[in-house]
Amino acid sequence: MIKGFIFDLDGVITDTAELHYAAWKELADDMGWEFDRELNEKLRGISRMDSIKVIMDYNNISLDEKSIVDFATKKNDFYVKSLNSITQEDYLPGARELLTHLRSEGFSVALGSASKNAEKVLKQLNATHYFDVIGDGNSVTKSKPAPDIFLYASEKLGLPPENCIVFEDAEKGIDAANAGKFHSVGIGPAERVGHADVRFDTMKEATLFEVKSYFKELF
Ligand code: BG6
Ligand code: MG
Repeated sequence: MIKGFIFDLDGVITDTAELHYAAWKELADDMGWEFDRELNEKLRGISRMDSIKVIMDYNNISLDEKSIVDFATKKNDFYVKSLNSITQEDYLPGARELLTHLRSEGFSVALGSASKNAEKVLKQLNATHYFDVIGDGNSVTKSKPAPDIFLYASEKLGLPPENCIVFEDAEKGIDAANAGKFHSVGIGPAERVGHADVRFDTMKEATLFEVKSYFKELF
């Protein structure tokens, strides 16, 4: 039986990819590193430290651990500043409606995000009250594609993975959900999340009715 839903944040509840892009781009431009939207796409769902390593590999740069942390912090300072621009108008279409519907039907709801800024983003959206549990980049050490963040969220909800559906927009996020033996809903193109149990192009199509129709024997 499905009793809980676990949501990724960036790309599922709201679209922060553009803000991450702008912050990495600002750092890269300062440093004279190559960075474009195609490379930004590879950072979807992965942690800040994994992201900077992808950017360094792409640029054939090797740095000591302290410099890596310093640059990641600099990017985060740019990013956190930009989060002030997020408002209650910035839910992805369909996301707020789904969260409201799940609460009214009595499902347990958790966040399972790689971001260490998740609480700030939820606050900007005025979305904190939709979640019984907040799992974010501060909750576990192993990030996606490891299943740890979703296992953390389901454990805190008091539900085993087979009772939970994970919503994810990242390839590595679906890998994490599948590795943890959760039911998975992919948001985005098949090239990215085609390995989810069921896929929708956007959150707008991912209504509770559609999700229930797909997983019908589990409700
Ligand atoms: C994920 C984003 O949600 O959070 C990634 O998809 C990002 O792009 C990751 O790198 C970590 O975010 P933060 O806010 O901790 O730098
Ligand atoms: Mg995401």
